[in-house]
Amino acid sequence: MSKNILLIGTHWGDEGKGKIVDVLADNAIGCVRFQGGHNAGHTLVIDGETTILHLIPSGILHDNVKSIIGNGVVVSLDALLQEIDDLESKNIILDNKLFISELCHLILPSHKNLDIAKEEKLGKSSIGTTGRGIGPSYEDKVARRGIRLIDFRNTKILKDKISNIMDYHNFLLKNYYNQPIVDVEKTFESLVDNYEKIKKFVIDIKPLLLNLTNSSNVLFEGAQGAMLDIDHGTYPYVTSSNTTFAGLLSGTGINVNRINYSLGIMKAYTTRVGNGPFPSELLNEIGDNLANWGGEVGATTGRARRCGWLDIKVLKNSIELNSINGIALTKIDVLDKFEKIKICIDYDMDDNYTARNIKFMEINGWMKSTVGVTKFNNLPKNAQKYVELIESLSERPIDLISTGPSRNDIIEIKDIFV
Ligand code: GDP
Ligand code: IMO
Ligand code: MG
Repeated sequence: MSKNILLIGTHWGDEGKGKIVDVLADNAIGCVRFQGGHNAGHTLVIDGETTILHLIPSGILHDNVKSIIGNGVVVSLDALLQEIDDLESKNIILDNKLFISELCHLILPSHKNLDIAKEEKLGKSSIGTTGRGIGPSYEDKVARRGIRLIDFRNTKILKDKISNIMDYHNFLLKNYYNQPIVDVEKTFESLVDNYEKIKKFVIDIKPLLLNLTNSSNVLFEGAQGAMLDIDHGTYPYVTSSNTTFAGLLSGTGINVNRINYSLGIMKAYTTRVGNGPFPSELLNEIGDNLANWGGEVGATTGRARRCGWLDIKVLKNSIELNSINGIALTKIDVLDKFEKIKICIDYDMDDNYTARNIKFMEINGWMKSTVGVTKFNNLPKNAQKYVELIESLSERPIDLISTGPSRNDIIEIKDIFV
C-alpha cells in the first residue's frame, strides 16, 4: 500500500523539515512542495556536504524521487535557475526528476522591490519578511492579476499582462513608496529568456500526482511553519500562504483522502526569524546559548533566529490545525549542555499580542552528548524522559528523533510508512 505523508513545521519555521524530508525520501517516489517560495531555506547535510534548498523539494538528492513544485508555490525564475545551476554543479540530474506546475504564479522583480519598499515604510512595525517578493506575488494572485507559468504559452498576451501589472507596480513604487521603477521591456525579455531555460520542467502536475500517490509513498513538504500561516498564524506577523494542511490541498489539488499521515516537525526548543509574538522567547544567556549551540542563523537571509523554550501551547494548536498523527523531534542534541530545561505549557495573550501568566515546567537536563545517537535506548535517561514528557503533553507519539544535522543522525522509532 502506498502512504502519502504531509510534513509540516509545527512552530515558526526552521524546524529541520528539509533534513527529515531527505531522510524519509529514501522510502518515497515523490516529494512535493505546495506553498511558499524561495523564502524557505531547507538544509540537507549528507556526508559532510551541505545543500540548502529554497524552492526545490528536499527529496531532490535521491535519484528515484520525483520532485514536484505544486501550483500553490510562487516562483521566481531567477531564484529557480540559480538553484537548478547549484544542483547541476553538484552533478544532480534534474531531467525527468523535477516537475513544476504550469499554474504556479510568478514572482516578478517588481514584487521584490515592493516587498522591500513596504517593509521600509512600515519601519518599526515591519513584518521582517525575507524580502523575496513573496507577499506581493500572493497579493496579485488573489487580486486576479497575477502571471502564471502557463501564460508563457502566448508571449503576445503575456507581454500585455506583464505591462499591465508592472505599470501598476511602478505606479506604486514611484508615487507611494518614492522608489525607482522597474524597466518593463527588460523584465519581459529576461523573463522570456529564463522561461525558455526551465520550460522543460513545466507540466500539468495532476496526472503525475495521481499516478505517484496511487503507486507508492509520496511526501508533501511544508515550508515555513504553522504559526506563519496567513489565517491561523500570528497575523500580521506571518507569511502570505496557508502553511498548514489546507495549503497542501489548495496548493496541489489533491484529494484529502489520499493523505494517510501527518507528521509534525518540531525542534526540541523554539525559534522564530523576523518580528512578531514569541511567548517563550529567552532574551538572556540561555537564549544566546540555544542560538550558538543550535547554529540558529537563517538559511535564507542569514539573519539571527530568536530562540526560546519549547512552546507546547503552539504545538497543541498545530496538532489540531494539521491533523498531526506523529512528531519528528529535531535538534535534541542542542539541549545536551543545559543543566535545567524548561517547557512552556501555557499563557494568556493580551490585545497587544503580549503573553501574560506564562507557565513553564522544568526538568533536569542530561549533560551528555546525544550527537549522532541512532537508538532511543542509547539516549541518556533524562533525554528519554524529555521525549516522553513531550509525548504525554501533546498526546502524540514521537516517531523520529534527529540527533544532528547529518542524514545519518536519526533515531527512527516508528516506520511511518507501514
Ligand atoms: P527547515 O527550514 O525546517 O528545513 O530547517 P532549516 O534547514 O532552515 O534549519 C534547521 C537547521 O538545523 C539546519 O542548519 C540543519 O542542518 C540543522 N539541523 C537539522 N536537524 C538537526 C539536529 O537534529 N541537530 C542539529 N544540531 N542540527 C540540526
Ligand atoms: P522555512 O521553510 C522561518 C518568515 C519571515 C517573516 C515572515 C514573512 O525555511 O522554515 P515572507 O518573506 O514569507 O513574507 O516573510 O515569515 N519566514 C520564515 N521564517 N523559516 C522560513 O521558511 C520562513 N519563511 C518566511 O522571517 O517573519
Ligand atoms: Mg529554514
